[in-house]
Amino acid sequence: MKHIIEIKKVTKKYGDFTAVDNLSLKIQKGSFFGLLGPNGAGKTTLIKMLVGLLKPTKGTILIENQKMNRDNTFIKSKIGIVPQHINLDKELSVRENLIFSAKLYKIKGNQLHQKIEKLLAFSDLKSIENRLSKKLSGGMQRKLMITKALVNDPDILFLDEPTVGIDVNHRRKIWDMLKGMKAMGKTIILTTHYIEEAEYLCNQIGLMDQGKIFYCNTSDALKNNLGKFTVEYFNTEKITEYKYFQSIEEAKEYAHSLDTHYILRNTNLEDVFYNFTNRKVQ
Ligand SMILES: Nc1ncnc2c1ncn2[C@@H]1O[C@H](COP(=O)(O)OP(=O)(O)OP(=O)(O)O)[C@@H](O)[C@H]1O
Ligand SMILES: [Mg+2]
Repeated sequence: MKHIIEIKKVTKKYGDFTAVDNLSLKIQKGSFFGLLGPNGAGKTTLIKMLVGLLKPTKGTILIENQKMNRDNTFIKSKIGIVPQHINLDKELSVRENLIFSAKLYKIKGNQLHQKIEKLLAFSDLKSIENRLSKKLSGGMQRKLMITKALVNDPDILFLDEPTVGIDVNHRRKIWDMLKGMKAMGKTIILTTHYIEEAEYLCNQIGLMDQGKIFYCNTSDALKNNLGKFTVEYFNTEKITEYKYFQSIEEAKEYAHSLDTHYILRNTNLEDVFYNFTNRKVQ
């Protein structure tokens, strides 16, 4: 099967407000898909519909060719969810949180024990397995949330801002876990506000705003589309301006014509995102 997820003309309204607007998208099996967009773009609403927590007002979501809905336990058994907000049982230890989740999938006995040990090793949480989750740092809580989402060995993992507020070291460890998941052939869909996170992890990036995905491509294609080279300079009002060029020659020619200090550099995904969101505001 080529496309593991197919979103067909999906709209979600909260009362009169349209949070997701007639959105269509296909995601290939084994992809690491990054959903970027400003606050309120509709990312969480879309993820919640993909995992069956919210019902679309219109449209259809197919996962592994089956229609997703709240009661489709077969699909639900194939997905893992890491929500935007902490979903740990704070009064349970690390190990107990995992056991609790595994039992929801009816994993028992020796299989349960082996599974928990494997997950604790994979996530590097073994040394703190007996610590109450309320006593974990933010980074460890996020790691535990991801580990918890893996108890049913999902084919597809949905992560809504998994590294928000996490320091660089923990973020790197979480990135390693996610790269490990990708290497195992899992399909991963992640929302983030950290552009470098999307650039580092994702082979496909969707730029979302006002309930729509406006651009969807590889990071390189998005950068090339804008222009591979950026000239960054102060204009006469001392405001930073950015100009994008397809060739280094054009960029140099423009830069040399400026009578102000400039930086000539490769375009990055942040430029793409900045240009995208400011285009929308104009
Ligand atoms: N339950 C709800 N009732 C009414 N409006 C809602 C509800 N949930 C979300 N919204 C609105 O829908 C829009 C999209 O929200 P959503 O949480 O999907 O955005 P987001 O892209 O995840 O934002 P963020 O980056 O801040 O997490 C926002 O304007 C939000 O206020
Ligand atoms: Mg959100």
